Formats: sequence, C-alpha cells, structure tokens
Amino acid sequence: MKYQKYLKYIDKNINKIPKNATILLSGGSGGLGSSFLHYLVYLNLNVILLLRNVELGNKIKQEVKLKFKDSTSNIEIIYFDYLDLDSINNALKILKTKKIDYFVNNSGIYHQKIEFINNFEKTYLVNFLRPCYFINKLLKLDKNIIIINVGSISYSFTKFDINDIYLTKVRNKSKTKYYGLTKYLLMSYSLYLNLKGYDVRLVHPGISSTNLFAKKNKAYPKLFYVFITPLIKLLFMNSFKASLSYFLALNTPKIDINYDEWFGPKYIFHSFGYPIKYKLNKMISDINLINEIGSKIDKILIEIY
Ligand SMILES: NC(=O)c1ccc[n+]([C@@H]2O[C@H](COP(=O)([O-])OP(=O)(O)OC[C@H]3O[C@@H](n4cnc5c(N)ncnc54)[C@H](OP(=O)(O)O)[C@@H]3O)[C@@H](O)[C@H]2O)c1
Repeated sequence: MKYQKYLKYIDKNINKIPKNATILLSGGSGGLGSSFLHYLVYLNLNVILLLRNVELGNKIKQEVKLKFKDSTSNIEIIYFDYLDLDSINNALKILKTKKIDYFVNNSGIYHQKIEFINNFEKTYLVNFLRPCYFINKLLKLDKNIIIINVGSISYSFTKFDINDIYLTKVRNKSKTKYYGLTKYLLMSYSLYLNLKGYDVRLVHPGISSTNLFAKKNKAYPKLFYVFITPLIKLLFMNSFKASLSYFLALNTPKIDINYDEWFGPKYIFHSFGYPIKYKLNKMISDINLINEIGSKIDKILIEIY
C-alpha cells in the first residue's frame, strides 16, 4: 500500500501529539486531507471533519476505518462550506460543546473561474477571508487551540501591494499569482495572530497531484490536463508523503518554532522530500508589515461580519 512506508516515518518521528487529542480538519475529502486522515486514524487520534460533501466524507471515513480496524479513533463529520456562512456559524455552535486540540485548515482552491459571492471573489473567500473569520471565532471558544494553516510557497512569486488588500490588481492577470497572494494573506494573518500570543503554525506541503489541479476546474486548455497533470504526478510526491509536513507542524513544540519559520519538504524549492522546518521568505516575515496587514484584515472582518 502507498502509505505503508510512511507509517514507519510516523512511528519514528511523531511522538509529541497528546494521546486522545482531537484534530479538527477541513478539506479532509481532498488529496492531502484524506491522506492525512489515514495517519490520524492510525495514531488513534480523534477527528472532526469539516466537509461540504458529507456523503463523500462518510465514504472516506468507512474506507479509512476499514484499513485501520483496530483504531480507537472517533471520526465525526460536520457540514461546512467556506462559501456558506451559515454552515460556518452552525459548525461553531456544534464545536462550542467539544474539546479541540488542533485545527488543521487544509481547505483550498486553485485555478478556478473568477466568481463573486457577496462582492467577494470565491478563491479569496475560501483560501483566506473565511478561514480568518472562522479561526478568530474558534480562538474565542478556546484560545489554546493550535492552528495549522496550509499555505503555499507560491506566495513568494509576487510581491504583495499593501494598497491592494482585496487583490483586485492581480485578480484577472494570473491565476497562480492570485492564488499565491490569497495564501500570502492567510499566512500573514497567521503570523499576526502569533505575534498576539496565539499558536498558529504554517505548512507548505510541497507539490502533489491532487484535485487542486483537476480537469473539472477547467482552468487551462485541455492539453494542460493531457500533458502537465500526468507530469506533476510523475515528478512530484504522492499525497501521503506530502501530508507528512502537517505532522511535523503538529508534533513540534511551540518553543522550538520561531515566528519566521514553517514546515515543508526538504528539497529543491521545497517541492519534494521529507519535511523539515525552515525560514519563511523575508517578504512575509517583516514584523511591521505583518502588523499592518493583520490590522487591515481585522478591520475588514469587523466591517463585514
Ligand atoms: N497539492 C499541492 O501541490 C499543494 C501545494 C501547496 C499547497 N497546497 C494546499 O494544500 C491544501 C490541500 O489541497 P489538496 O492539494 O489536497 O487539494 P484538493 O484535493 O483539491 O483538496 C482541497 C480540499 O478543500 C476543500 N474545499 C474546496 N472548497 C471548499 C469550500 N468552499 N469550503 C470548504 N472546503 C473546501 C475540498 O472539498 P471538496 O472535496 O468538497 O471539493 C477538498 O477537501 C490546499 O489548501 C492547497 O492550497 C497544495
């Protein structure tokens, strides 16, 4: 099986996550999320899946439980869609009654058609704004929840313009730059929360062929999916290896993480290999800029929610 050899990595390296911990996970139906779920169940950890496709979630739950028959892990599913504000608020009501140790914010979209919901663009909402809203509310329920935000190294491809917090200038130009900047904002806000004393960690999983690049998103001409998607599959990591970065983020004690560090694969442009902790690019680690961006985001959140 694809993941067997990574269980050895986990046995050897992952030992600081408290037994019986509960992990809240968004995007558990995707490539990286469902691979990560396998390991959580292997480790007997409890999981609450935040999913917009509950039926698919139940199917994945059954499959994983079948693979790890002896696992004592409890898996719960809550309907959740970053594009449906009511679903987020309902999830928060349910979560009020639970003890959560970690939230892994793994949802994300890339290369999709530009689309607006209440004047906000979809990718902007899913990758950045609604996660910031949700995380703020979650930390109000319990300030000790450890947050793991899945970022992307593509944040470093474009310089962020502080006067363009809504990313209007890049929105129609390049899907990759736009995606990268939505992740940049999510990551900046994570660092801002850290400076305020919360525990928010960042991950870049590397490059892995998942639904992120799926044909159904129709982002590219057909030939892209004929040639490039199989090439990504061939050259880069499978999702089981890529999701190991999440574990290093969960497993590392707060005291060992500097505010300008994150977790991701070791080799060339952090695109493949086993995970390590490494420094963020200077364009994101400037404390003045983090504070400036963070307070702007707080203002947006107060104004609209
Ligand atoms: N794969 C890579 O090379 C790579 C590189 C860098 C960073 N990342 C990041 O890694 C994370 C996981 O991505 P992946 O590669 O596993 O992609 P994926 O297979 O497309 O999974 C994305 C997950 O996000 C969920 N999602 C999409 N829209 C949502 C919404 N409106 N509300 C809630 N959840 C939503 C999807 O749910 P559905 O199943 O319902 O669609 C799915 O579970 C993303 O944040 C991505 O940006 C991936």
